[in-house]
Amino acid sequence: MNEHLDKPEWQADSYHRHVRYVSDLGGPVVDLLDPRPGERILDLGCGDGALTEVIAGRQVDVLGIDAGEAFVASARARGLDVVHGDGQDLPFEPESFDAVFSNAALHWMPDADGVLRGVSRVLKPGGRFVGEFGGHGNIAAVTTALRAVLQRHGVKWRELGWYFPTAEAYRTRLESHGFTVEESQLFPRPTPLPTDIEGWLAVFAEGFLNRLDDHHRTPAIAAIVDLLEPALRDDQGQWSVDYVRLRFKATKAE
Ligand code: BEZ
Repeated sequence: MNEHLDKPEWQADSYHRHVRYVSDLGGPVVDLLDPRPGERILDLGCGDGALTEVIAGRQVDVLGIDAGEAFVASARARGLDVVHGDGQDLPFEPESFDAVFSNAALHWMPDADGVLRGVSRVLKPGGRFVGEFGGHGNIAAVTTALRAVLQRHGVKWRELGWYFPTAEAYRTRLESHGFTVEESQLFPRPTPLPTDIEGWLAVFAEGFLNRLDDHHRTPAIAAIVDLLEPALRDDQGQWSVDYVRLRFKATKAE
């Protein structure tokens, strides 16, 4: 994983409790992929394999890749074929997949050109690249609160290096790698949390928060929660996160 982004090493139980919806909401992206029987498909950033398993159920040969060792172990425990590796530097033979799929992973890979170079290389001519990830404005309230609090502790806001492009910028980037873009659209998807914002932060911001020593971490989390409460907690006490999704479908030239 790149040196700028502190991607957390996912804990399976915490992930299931606090953010199970990440794959539960991925069904429409699988539909957009439209896996066809007999195809060989790569699931890029497959996480714990929940959607890889759905794709595998469509009579295709699916391989997952993820940079998180715990995720790879969880996905393999489902009986899936999964490689541990960096999506920004794909380790596969040229023209070995009919389609590449990705859900909720590409925002963790700021070397977007590295990703697209690899995807273009491993796809067969005419192959599809279909996915969804955080787009421009994604988790804006969360990012602002994290920056406000972490910079008091000397963590530079630029180090919160998630990649959230506009639909137009991503379309242009896909085209610059030789793809024909059928769809690239942004849409807001505010998402109610099964627990609360502290649970979300524990899963997704752990890498940043762990830069603080024990003495500073607890008050910093309290300050972040306090900043977020007016925006993300409703009068019934329900927390949501201000997700914006970028959904795309592109095809490599024949
Ligand atoms: C997302 O799914 O958009 C996301 C989740 C955690 C951190 C950043 C983005």
